[in-house]
Amino acid sequence: MSEALLKARDYEEKYERLIPERERPKFHLASRVGWMNDPNGFSWYNGKYHLFYQYHPYDSHWGPMHWGHAASSDLLHWDYLPCAMAPDEVYDQSGCFSGSALELKDGRHLLMYTGVIRDSDGEGGTIDIQTQNLAFGDGRDYVKYEGNPVLKGVDLPQGGSIHDFRDPKIWQAEDGSYRALIANNHLGHGGWFLLYRSEDLFHWKFMHVLAANDDRIGLMWECPDFFELDGEHVIIASAQDMLPKGFEYHNGNGTFYLTGNYDPHTERYEERANHAVDYGIDFYAPQTILAPDGRRIMIGWMQNWDTCNLHTKSTPWFGMMSLPRELSMRKGILIQKPLRELKKYRRDPIIRKDVRLCDGDLRINGMFGRTADLEVTIQAADPEKMYQRFAVRFAQNDKWRTGVSFRPHESTLKIDRKFSGSRRAVINQRRALVNHVRGSLKLRLIIDRFSVEVFVNDGEKVMSAVITTELDADGFSFFADGDVIMDIAWYRLEV
Ligand code: FRU
Repeated sequence: MSEALLKARDYEEKYERLIPERERPKFHLASRVGWMNDPNGFSWYNGKYHLFYQYHPYDSHWGPMHWGHAASSDLLHWDYLPCAMAPDEVYDQSGCFSGSALELKDGRHLLMYTGVIRDSDGEGGTIDIQTQNLAFGDGRDYVKYEGNPVLKGVDLPQGGSIHDFRDPKIWQAEDGSYRALIANNHLGHGGWFLLYRSEDLFHWKFMHVLAANDDRIGLMWECPDFFELDGEHVIIASAQDMLPKGFEYHNGNGTFYLTGNYDPHTERYEERANHAVDYGIDFYAPQTILAPDGRRIMIGWMQNWDTCNLHTKSTPWFGMMSLPRELSMRKGILIQKPLRELKKYRRDPIIRKDVRLCDGDLRINGMFGRTADLEVTIQAADPEKMYQRFAVRFAQNDKWRTGVSFRPHESTLKIDRKFSGSRRAVINQRRALVNHVRGSLKLRLIIDRFSVEVFVNDGEKVMSAVITTELDADGFSFFADGDVIMDIAWYRLEV
């Protein structure tokens, strides 16, 4: 094992102990120490879920990328495992970037990842050489393949850039051969996803471009995932530097999905539509897994490249994953629901039916805390007289609050975290268009100390955001401008 890896393993063991449990999320995976970004290698191996992540243990800011590692039996309770990879080879000396994993038939766990060599570009900036590499392991220790890199500049099609060639998504085809879908920059046109084939994992051949940006959604595309879901073929990915289109793509760097058809014979993809994956503030670089019971489950990095550098250097950990979300398709739309097992951890229910709220605030006795599952269904008390606005607030005290508010006349739901502890309340709200029938709307909020995920109308849309609010801001309240009727089901979550 390299010195760099040993050092990272020592470091995380020593310093994770200094982080009090209560200062971490309860059931969202957060960085063991230091910085976390993208989920990597989300896979089922040897009877457990494994999740790796982009990791810089020594600092709560991005730096030379390692792969952090955790495993779980239920996707809600995670155990950290020792750091899996450090940037310790010539071809990954500046970082082991994102990638994916596969359980091999011979029992080994395969990681395919991007190795980066970063150099000065001679004009005060930097320039990368990015290649694809393999490592084999047993679920704890991984050995990089001595023939790395397995994919490099010569394997690119014409117009492809070696400076942005990353984030391989690997899978095994039905005939036993392998495929890798890799993000690349098609110079002058933005990102495109390249499909490669291999018989043996070591020799790869470029097949064709599976999907291309052609200057539609942001610039470079990153972190592709690709799967079949309810008869639809879905590519999930992240785009850099997006321009907003209506209510879509407001995040600068954000996620999108393509729906379409993948022909199993030609292996070509025909795209139908594209949408954002998450309409909140913090969600990026998601990966999915096909769970042993057939569910397609997605986890994303619950952060955002535009606001992830506001914390101080002394912050002991930074970066967390989203809740695992169960995916399905409904009428061409990606439906996301919180992992169903979460309901097992609901405690202390407060259930209220037909609560009338007219022009004012409502607090309910006993409803407080920072780990909660709240379902609220609202409708206009009088459908002839539509209310103006409805809001749910949480992480609230005299000084702080975070909330979502709905304006039926505009059909918009807004998430707002201006008052959640940030001294840079700049990018702190976002609106999404939501479906409602005459003011009826269903929301489910999952709150885990430093985050909220808002599921709208049983998963039609999701809005995610992290908050840094002090933990003693733990109140909830409901607000109406106009006359509404609510059904409320609130639970403390004890995961
Ligand atoms: C996406 C990303 C990936 C890259 C990694 C580096 O967030 O930029 O494309 O592999 O982060 O940490």
